[in-house]
Amino acid sequence: MIPIAKPMIGDAEKQAVMEVLDSGMLAQGPRTARFEERFAQACGVKHAIATTSGTTALHMALLANGVGAGDEVITTPFTFIASANSILFTGAQPVFVDIDPETFNIDPEQVAKAVTPRTRAIMPVHLYGYMCDMDALQAIADRHGLKIVEDACQAIGAAYHGKPAGSLGTGCFSLYATKNVMSGEGGMITTSDDAVAEKCRMLRNHGMKRRYYHDMLGFNFRMTDLCAAIGLAQLDRLEDFTARRRANAAYLNSKIESVITPTVKDGYRHVWHQYTIRVGGGRDRDAAVRQLNEAGIGTGVFYPVPAHRQEYMRDIVGAVQLPVAEQLAEEVISLPVHPQLSQADLDAIVAEVNRL
Ligand SMILES: Cc1ncc(COP(=O)(O)O)c(C=O)c1O
Repeated sequence: MIPIAKPMIGDAEKQAVMEVLDSGMLAQGPRTARFEERFAQACGVKHAIATTSGTTALHMALLANGVGAGDEVITTPFTFIASANSILFTGAQPVFVDIDPETFNIDPEQVAKAVTPRTRAIMPVHLYGYMCDMDALQAIADRHGLKIVEDACQAIGAAYHGKPAGSLGTGCFSLYATKNVMSGEGGMITTSDDAVAEKCRMLRNHGMKRRYYHDMLGFNFRMTDLCAAIGLAQLDRLEDFTARRRANAAYLNSKIESVITPTVKDGYRHVWHQYTIRVGGGRDRDAAVRQLNEAGIGTGVFYPVPAHRQEYMRDIVGAVQLPVAEQLAEEVISLPVHPQLSQADLDAIVAEVNRL
């Protein structure tokens, strides 16, 4: 089976972990600090704050932007559930709006229509490694005085008109094992706002600035130096990993004919966390998945149920109808695009997909 994801774990990662073990200092320390510095540079921002996951990054970023009970945050339903959950953790209400079928991302026109006096923030999700239409979203945010918390969990290295993901609002990244840059589990917040950065650092560590003096309620969301060491080794190779993903996606796009392939608009740098096709026209997506799997092609369905249709979420947001997201949830299949694919793998994927 050609797997849908395969983490790049080489000598650099192994050696980095051994060095931390040998140092005897495993918790958040110098490697985490270096990882934060390097991550901030990579995203073109002043601060990066390492944390335990993309979920905790989003949670803290929202809190640091003043989101709380009684507020609304507008976001997409076509995402991993953590995006919406992080809003709920703050006590705020997620407001789901529909997406653009071509990009899979939140539709700014729908965002504009959903703003109310309670709206505090917009959470665009750069799904699959492709950024949202940030100029349009920024214009809405400026008009209504809203914060932007970017869910860039899948989008390290992506750019919008030359601006890196995570540099356009408060950025939140996941370093989960299958992400383009990973640390096993982990997350990162990026910002150039000193106050937001300071608040995130405090939230991460029980509201402390001075040891054992607690200025606010906080969490233990600290990254370990073991994770940071892996992340640092990965970050060194970000450009190489991304170039391979982009070459793989370009090849798939040039050869696949039987289904709707993803598009990339001018001015966007796609980093292909996922390469996602649409099996449209009333064809049976689940049968297509079975056919591909039987032929040895690994697949993923990201995501089969939009957030507003999840069982518990219906009690929270009611019977919202978002037809584009609901349709795409029935049509999408992600194919392997990771950096370890060989030319033979790519050709096998193309051949099987074109047989659908
Ligand atoms: C779009 C999106 N948001 C949030 C998350 C949450 O990240 P994590 O799994 O690191 O908590 C993920 C990760 O899977 C994601 O893909």
